[in-house]
This record gives sequence, C-alpha cells and structure tokens, in this order.
Amino acid sequence: MQKIKFYFSPIAADKFQNKAGDTWTIKNKSGKLYEKCKYSHKNEIMLTVTIEGDTVSYGTASNGLMTKDTPDIPGTKLKTVKSTSTKLPEEQVALMEFINTSAKLRPEILKMADLKWKYLMRSALRGKNIMMTGPAGCGKTMAAKSVATVLDRPDFYFNLGATQDPRSTLIGNTHFNKEDGTYFSEALFVKAIQTENAVILLDELSRAHPDAHNILMTVLDEGQRYLRLDEADDSPTIKVAPGVTFIATANIGNEYTATRVMDRALLDRFIIVEMDVLDTEQETDLLTYLYPNLDAKSIGAIADIVGGTRKEILTETPRISTAISTRNSVEMASLMYDGFQIDEAAEVCIYPQFDNSGGLDSERTFVKQLVQKHCYDENNVNEDLFNVETEEEVQTA
Ligand SMILES: Nc1ncnc2c1ncn2[C@@H]1O[C@H](COP(=O)(O)OP(=O)(O)OP(=O)(O)O)[C@@H](O)[C@H]1O
Ligand SMILES: [Mg+2]
Repeated sequence: MQKIKFYFSPIAADKFQNKAGDTWTIKNKSGKLYEKCKYSHKNEIMLTVTIEGDTVSYGTASNGLMTKDTPDIPGTKLKTVKSTSTKLPEEQVALMEFINTSAKLRPEILKMADLKWKYLMRSALRGKNIMMTGPAGCGKTMAAKSVATVLDRPDFYFNLGATQDPRSTLIGNTHFNKEDGTYFSEALFVKAIQTENAVILLDELSRAHPDAHNILMTVLDEGQRYLRLDEADDSPTIKVAPGVTFIATANIGNEYTATRVMDRALLDRFIIVEMDVLDTEQETDLLTYLYPNLDAKSIGAIADIVGGTRKEILTETPRISTAISTRNSVEMASLMYDGFQIDEAAEVCIYPQFDNSGGLDSERTFVKQLVQKHCYDENNVNEDLFNVETEEEVQTA
C-alpha cells in the first residue's frame, strides 16, 4: 500500500500550511494532530502527516521539503489559496526582487563578483554590520561607498585608521570657555547613528586604536545598539536609529602585520564580505573602462605584470612579499595615458614597494623581470641584467 508523507509549516497551535499557503485548521483541540501541531509550532519545526490507505499518523520533523499538494486530512478544515503566489508579506517580495536585480545596480566602475555584491546589498538592506576584508587596494572602501550611493541613503564616513583620538571622533569633546563654562560638543558620529537608515562607514577599523573598538562594542551589538557617552556605567546613552547599517573595512591576514589584531568579540559582530583580488581579465576590463584611449598593448602589459605578482604570491615559496594592487595598476595606466613608458611607470610607482636588497635575488629584481618582458623598444632596455638565457648559452658553449 502506498504511503505518502506530507510536510507542513505550523502557523499556530491549531493551524498549518503547505508551500502554496493553503491552510488547515484543526477541529479537535485535544487530538493527536493538535498535539503535534502545537509542539512543532512552539519549537519552530515541521509538522508531518503520513497517509497510508485509511491510516493517518502525525509527527514532527526538524527539516524536510514542504508539501506543495493539498491533501485531504481528516479532522481539519481546509482553506485553499486561490492565487498561485506564495503568501509572503509584500515587503518581503519587494526585498527579494530588489536583491535579485541588484547586480544591475553595481556601478560599472566597481569590479566585484555578482554574488559578493548581492550579498553586500542584501546585508545592507537587512541592517547587518558588514566587514569588508581583503588585501590593500582591492576595492574595499570603494565597494562600501558604492552601497550608500546605490541605495541612496544618508551616508557618513569615518576613517578610524587615521584617528589617534577615537573618543573625540566617536563621542565628542568637553570644552571650556569663560562665558559658558564647561560644555560638550558632540562628534559627527553621534549625529550619524541617530540618522534613520544611515549607512555608516567605519573605514580601516582594523587599524583603529583599541579605544575605538571598545566604544563601538555596544553600538554594534545586536542586543544593545547604543553609544555610551562616558565610561561610567550610569552615563547617558544614545540609541542607534532604526535602519542604520555599519560597513567597516579591514585588512585581515598575515600580510598585514602592521595592522592591529582585531578583537575577536568585535569581529564577531560583523558578517564578512571578502573582496577578491581581480584576475587578469577583470583587471584588463577595468583599465580599458577607465582609459578607453590607452592602447590595448599597454593595458595588456600592465595586467600581465600585475597578474604575475599575484600568481607569484600564491606559490609555496613566493619571491616577493606582496602583490601589486589594483590601486597601483590603475595608477600605472594613468601614467601611461600621460605618456610614460611601461618601465618608467613601473620605476616610479611599482619598484619603490619592492625591496632592493639582495641584488639579483631581490624582490625588486623579480618585478623588474616581469616588467622587462614588455619593454619591446630597444631604447628602453638599457640594462642587460636579466638576460639570463644568454649567460647560460655562454657557459655551456
Ligand atoms: N575591485 C575594484 N574595482 C574597481 N576599481 C578598483 C577595485 N579595486 C581597486 N580599485 C581601484 O583602486 C583604488 C583603491 O581602491 P580602494 O580604496 O577601494 O581599496 P581598499 O581595498 O579600500 O584599499 P586599502 O586596504 O588600502 O584601504 C580605487 O579608487 C580604484 O581606482
Ligand atoms: Mg580602504
């Protein structure tokens, strides 16, 4: 005999629903079905109904695929939904639609995987605390700023890496003058958190003074969401307004030893959006978009050099300690647009970042080799330093 099991979502002690939104009301408030429905409703799990011939049994399940059909269940009153649409609240449907189409809203100038952008938008709309992570110059700040622009919400920017006095940046200062005596001037941050739907950027949070972390702890905590104006426990507090979204940026990882180690408890208050380093194709697209009049050969050369450093850094024993960032590749393209040759652009904007000690084994030599591959012009190749092949030929001859 065929046995069919249905999974429902309880919506009250005596009511359950299928996926289409059809609702069953239990008539007998002391029977087995009522008991199971009440239990599953309370524990936020599913209600199961198994029908085998004339036998019907009831149970609960922590998960399962919600039933689409509308079976006949004895002892219940069925109300079917006429339309085929699911019964999600209107705002939810609107939000889902917005998130789904949000890829189109990403500014063309910002290169970022669609999924990451979608996650970023969704998290902002849901008022999450967002932490953008990734290596230097990969677009963390740019992506964070784009959110505020695209959502058209009031935005506030705080660079916490640049402030040595977090108290005055986040809370304010006490002043004194003869007329007024002592008075308090509050920081812009105090206004920011009281602005409904504001997007508040906490740039370079990982570099912030530990005092900033402490001050922000309650502000970012889901259950607290207030700013305390003084260390004293009974000092006044300011509530974070509804709809406020915090977006922080951080360089996290062993490449950044200079960065202060972020407090685990603070980090826990964020969802993480990791920015990826661009691949050669994305880098080429970006540079072409930014400098449409720069020739393809130059753009290809930059993308190749940059890509070479990024590939090297991923090897087991990299010969360099950092890769060239997108910020730097954009800068190189702008120099070439202004008439610099590739080796000139590299010399002023790339080489200084790479250690020159160690001669031919130095980090700088490694990068110079990547660059020299693209110096076709004889006049630009003034050193034969890297022509290792010729040297070998001489030795074996
Ligand atoms: N993913 C990207 N898409 C487009 N442009 C980018 C991207 N990453 C970097 N850039 C370019 O590099 C510049 C610097 O980017 P941004 O300031 O966002 O980097 P960051 O990750 O915040 O760096 P830092 O860690 O140094 O703060 C941008 O102005 C832009 O020109
Ligand atoms: Mg930044």
